[in-house]
Amino acid sequence: MKTTLVIISATLLLTWELTLAQQKGEPMSDKERWDGRYDREMYIYGKEPVAFLKNKLNRLKQGKALVLAMGEGRNAVYLAQHGFDVTGVDISSIAIEKCKRLADERGVQVNTVVADLTDYDLGYEQYDLITNFYFYDKSILERSIGALKPGGMFIFEQFSVDHLKLGQQFGPKTAKYLVKPNELLEVFKSTRILYYEDTVVELDEGMHKGATAIIRLIAQKPTE
Ligand SMILES: C[S@@+](CC[C@H](N)C(=O)[O-])C[C@H]1O[C@@H](n2cnc3c(N)ncnc32)[C@H](O)[C@@H]1O
Repeated sequence: MKTTLVIISATLLLTWELTLAQQKGEPMSDKERWDGRYDREMYIYGKEPVAFLKNKLNRLKQGKALVLAMGEGRNAVYLAQHGFDVTGVDISSIAIEKCKRLADERGVQVNTVVADLTDYDLGYEQYDLITNFYFYDKSILERSIGALKPGGMFIFEQFSVDHLKLGQQFGPKTAKYLVKPNELLEVFKSTRILYYEDTVVELDEGMHKGATAIIRLIAQKPTE
């Protein structure tokens, strides 16, 4: 029943996006596309954090956290509940509003920024922790290393190129948004890689439901 509802929602979402694009006669911007996806009562990836974040929480450096492409706030709110001073950035103002609602619901505070990460200044040596879940832009990964304080940590999970072979309805449909094998090891070569995994898992997070291929990483910026 739950699976059927998720598939129906995904189909309605795609139809809505196509209709909007056709009406305008122009391709949608990333902001329009994501606002369209989030413009509904339900939390499309659920309200619970990514399992990898939850499992590794005790290993992460406490303090000031930046949550990249935070969506409706499931990870940002979880970190705030566990004592982090959290700032979350996303291109979708609708997602940000939903994050604020979730934070109120859980009695915590998240600093929110509506911005396009492709040209958002992450600052220099500002954060103890940066998270990047289910959003992929290589240049942001490179800039994130600069934004970490010495000793700061970066935690990442995203679909790998193998996701395409599994033929799922969810997740990116083009390789541009997917991580290649060992690519992150090269990007993070100036850091200490504390955890790396290239694997197949069963996801059950709102619209992410089913078997998929993902890459996980935790990296730490050296202190000297
Ligand atoms: C698959 S969702 C993942 C959301 C969240 N990280 C999570 O795990 O629930 C990808 C997110 O990236 C955001 N996004 C896409 N392009 C962006 C950009 N250029 N700048 C900032 N956010 C962006 C979308 O609005 C969306 O919230």
